[in-house]
Amino acid sequence: MKRLHIVSNRLPFSISFENDNPSLEPSVGGLATGMNSVYKDFEGKWIGWPGIASDTKSRKELQAVDRLLKEEGCKPVHLCEQEVEDFYEGFCNNTIWPLFHYFAQYVDFHASLWDAYINVNRKFADTILETAGQGDFVWVHDYQLMLVPQMVKSQRPDITIGFFLHIPFPSYEVFRILPWRDELLRGLLGADLIGFHTYDYQRHFLSSVRRIFGYEIVLNEVHIDGRIILVDSFPMGIDYDKFYKAALNIFHTPVKERSEVHNELEKYFLMSDGKHLILSIDRLDYSKGIPNRLRAFEKFLERNPDYRGNVTLVMLAVPSRDNVDHYKKLKSEVEELVGRINGLYGSINYTPVLYFYRSMPFQNLVELYSMCDVALITPVRDGMNLVAKEYVASRINQTGVVVVSEMAGVVKEMGEAIIINPNDEDQVAEAIQQAIEMPHSEQVRRISAMQERLRRYDVFKWAKDFVNALQKARKVQTEFLAK
Ligand code: ADP
Ligand code: F6P
Repeated sequence: MKRLHIVSNRLPFSISFENDNPSLEPSVGGLATGMNSVYKDFEGKWIGWPGIASDTKSRKELQAVDRLLKEEGCKPVHLCEQEVEDFYEGFCNNTIWPLFHYFAQYVDFHASLWDAYINVNRKFADTILETAGQGDFVWVHDYQLMLVPQMVKSQRPDITIGFFLHIPFPSYEVFRILPWRDELLRGLLGADLIGFHTYDYQRHFLSSVRRIFGYEIVLNEVHIDGRIILVDSFPMGIDYDKFYKAALNIFHTPVKERSEVHNELEKYFLMSDGKHLILSIDRLDYSKGIPNRLRAFEKFLERNPDYRGNVTLVMLAVPSRDNVDHYKKLKSEVEELVGRINGLYGSINYTPVLYFYRSMPFQNLVELYSMCDVALITPVRDGMNLVAKEYVASRINQTGVVVVSEMAGVVKEMGEAIIINPNDEDQVAEAIQQAIEMPHSEQVRRISAMQERLRRYDVFKWAKDFVNALQKARKVQTEFLAK
């Protein structure tokens, strides 16, 4: 295969500055964590935004940033403060994100944000054009860059372009609300292969293409003006072995060398028998259903006085898009709910919700996964949800229970989990009880089946399948033109 370049808005590393010196930190989010495990296998660059506003830094500082990223095989696309505001916070996260997650009431329809989206997509396309050699492959990721495939294809048909959407593609009736729906679809159709997490998202996309343009669709191929575009679903996996081995390692580490998080959790369990920890981990995002999760937990405590003092919800929320209004409001709502529950049911010795608003190092994340009895995952809409998969992979003794929303892409691969509708708080409260009371043998049966599935279709297999399909797309196109 020729070189393959990865392109995404967020790079696998974000930059932080201390005393004018930049350093790299791993980015949070499914795209970054997943692709970070595979990208070094490809010969090519990872093109993306390093997460800072370039006009707030000096030339010297930016040069230092570029040098650091170059060592990791990354090529930055710098965005100034206005672009961050109008493109990233604006059109990406205040227009497309809410619409594609069925939060139509949150959508901001400003034409100036759309202009910023076009301009920044053009910047990314230009960087690809200057990086990619004759006949290279390019893999563009996610909703921030939906115009890029067409921008590149129109100038360089020799480049084979794959596009993968990490969020849901909404049904036509929701997608059609957007004034710029035709342009977005045309942008995507510049790709040779378009991938989604699930068959439903693929179906919604094809239905929009058919209704808006009336193009011919033959099975999973779109035929337009002498081109064939393949459309398929590829449920993203995780680096299964990395989580499993890290969890295994914890128990081989002498107690004195274990982390503070681990020892604190262990102390909690040692306080008395019958203690349960429920885990909740997400970016602080309204699509993740955090308030309904808290209200369901409150209901559970209200109805089960015997469990008060013995069941704790460990809630980890990573700061995300905190300049966007709806995210700010969500943060206050979550803090208020946590305060209310802790005020109502807490005591000197018991804090019902242990709330952390921060990102955590990988090691601590695995400690939480491996020590909490239940993972409570209740998004109101989620493209995939890798946290659910990471939890399962970290259960080295095969115990543990996953409670997962039917609105998350991951549910298609988790038939053994307790599946809930996140809007039904009574059902979620009951599911918490069912999870805590599930016999060990039943937990082992369910977790083992899910582990086997996730181990087989890990992130490496996912990437390999996508790249194979991309090669097939090139072949199909070449044969079609030769006819
Ligand atoms: P999304 O892509 O919407 O953020 P996912 O659940 O698919 O949702 O992916 C989230 C990723 O971010 C996971 O790989 C998870 O390990 C990571 N992550 C989530 N919370 C934290 C945290 N507090 N600290 C570090 N990493 C986190
Ligand atoms: O996985 C979905 C996703 O939106 C990615 O595109 C994105 O990188 C991640 O979540 C985190 O969001 P952000 O890049 O806005 O911090």
